Parts: sequence; C-alpha cells; structure tokens
Amino acid sequence: MSDALNRRTFLSASAAAGLSLTALGAMPQKPTGKIRPIVISSANGLETVKKAMEMIKAGADPLDAAIEGVAIVEADPKDNTVGYGGIPNEDGVVELDAAVMHGPTHGGGSVASLRNIMHPAAVARLVMKRTDHCLLVGEGALRFAKMHGFKEIDLLTEDSRKIWLHWKETNGKDDDRFPPPDDELDPIVREFFGIRKHGTIHCSALDTHGDLGCTTTTSGLFYKIPGRVGDSPIMGAGLFLDNEVGSAGSTGRGEANLLNLSSHTIVEAMRRGLSPKDAAMEAVKRIVATNKAPRNRDPKGRPNFDVKFYCVTKDGRYAGASLWAGAKMAVHDGDSAKLVDCASLYDEKAPEN
Ligand code: GLY
Repeated sequence: MSDALNRRTFLSASAAAGLSLTALGAMPQKPTGKIRPIVISSANGLETVKKAMEMIKAGADPLDAAIEGVAIVEADPKDNTVGYGGIPNEDGVVELDAAVMHGPTHGGGSVASLRNIMHPAAVARLVMKRTDHCLLVGEGALRFAKMHGFKEIDLLTEDSRKIWLHWKETNGKDDDRFPPPDDELDPIVREFFGIRKHGTIHCSALDTHGDLGCTTTTSGLFYKIPGRVGDSPIMGAGLFLDNEVGSAGSTGRGEANLLNLSSHTIVEAMRRGLSPKDAAMEAVKRIVATNKAPRNRDPKGRPNFDVKFYCVTKDGRYAGASLWAGAKMAVHDGDSAKLVDCASLYDEKAPEN
C-alpha cells in the first residue's frame, strides 16, 4: 500500500473510530501514577479542565490532555476569542496563534497567523514533534497543517462576521464610506460591543507522575492588523514551563507579555521559591513598571488594559493573578472542576477599552 493510501486509510479509520485530527501526534497512554493531578485554565476553560482531567486519569500525557481540553473551546463558535468563530483581523479574516510546551522533553512548538485551521494547538504539537523547529507562521504553517491532514474550513461564523462588520462600519470617526446601519443592531452585536470582551485560552496540566504540559491558543486581538502576532505562540510570553518547577500561561494584552516575557518570569520566580500567587504577582508588577507609553496608561498612570496569569507548581499548588479585580480561573483538582478567584493588583475592575 502506498504512503498516500496508508494515510487515507488511517484518516478514514480514525474518523470512523471517532478519533479526530487533534489526536495526531499524541503520546502513548501510560499507567497512572501516584501524584494528585491538577489542571488549570482561564475562566473560559471549565469544560477544558474537565476533559483534560478525564484524560489524565485515563493515563494520557499532560500536554495531550491540555490540547484536547482546549480543542473544545477552539471548536466552540460561541467563544469569539479562540479558534472557530474568533473575531477576525481588520480585513475580516480569522488568524490563529497557538503554542504548546511538553515538560518531560522540554519540547515546544507553535504556529502564528494560521488561517482556515480550527485546531492550531494540535498543529503546534506537530511542529514540536515532526519538525526541528519551534515556530511556523502564515502560509508555511497552513501548508504544514494540510500536509498532516488538517482540513481547511472558513473560521468566520455569521456572528463573528456581523461583529466585524459593525466594527468596520463604525470605527473611523471621519470615515463616511460606511454609514452605520439605520436598523436595530443585531442582539449578538449589541451584546458584544456592550462590554468589551477579552479571551484566549491557556491550559496547564500536571499529571499523576508529576509531569507538566501546557498550551495557549487564541484568535488574538480583535480586528488586528493582518499578520499581527501576540504572545500566545511565543514561548516565554504567553506560556512557559519547566518540568522541574512548574507551568504558567496568560491571557489578555499580548504586547505587554511580549515586552516582559511574563510566563518565563513566573516560572523563574517559582524556581526561586515564590508561591504561585507571588510569582504571578511579580509578573503583574513587572508589567506595571515597564508600561511607559502614555497611550497605554490611564489618568493615574496605571495600565489601561488587563493581563491575567495562571500558574501551577510541580507539587500541585496553583494561583491566578491579574492587574484588575474580578478575574477568575478554572481549576480541576482531581475531584471537581470549579472557577476560583484570581488575585489582583488593583481593587477596581478592568477599564473597558
Ligand atoms: N493574549 C492574546 C493576544 O494578545 O493575542
């Protein structure tokens, strides 16, 4: 049988068996160990932590569990900040960024500005496992994904198209090419512009052997300049782990994390012995200290944006921290999944921007 035929047979057999392309590149199952597992995620990751914990208890690798967990949100058309249904760039095209890191091998892979592929985190794992590189972008990342059997789909849903169109028609103060519509706003659009939402999903998993895996996946900044890449696919910025120490990741304004390599900062702070909460707060304070551009500061000089951090130590302690109050994170401690409060630097809620 030719390789191509083998591949087609495998893919149709996988589909028939209910296996998805997100499983491509997954590690073999292991017998479960004795350590209490923990899975953490951002607030949009309650189903993610449930799925990842179920897989870890069945002996999955922690990175595979994290990837399958975030795949639920990547496929969810109602989450406009990740994967399918993500808010597009200024041209109306959805561009996805994602990265993965694997504790036992200290391996990592990522993709950026990837179009038309629903599961960029699974593609990032293949970059880690099937190339000698860490990051593929744009057209090259798409060709690589297709080479491994991922199918192209239009990631723009009707809801995300309507939201983008409203932004395009109302954005430029002096731009009269697109007069705003006279008719009632679609409720989907009204709700979206009522409270500015932020998203992205991070997931870090500690398995029953004390091994770590993590991923961050996103559609990035709403209406971004085509080709803009945030922190999510950059190891050290939107995620980082060291299997001897712990794992960390972030959601929120990516540029602040790129300028501070915040996830690396958190893991290094945990290595020095700081608690997860204090380590995450160190990254928060670093962002405040380095945020010099007046356009990014409120009248009191504080950042006019939010960034949230999530971290877990190798011995299973975890915390979240953000600049502004009200952030939550999802946690599964082996018994149940729940949303818990993140610590915050300021007592006020995040400014809308
Ligand atoms: N943190 C996601 C982004 O800035 O793209």
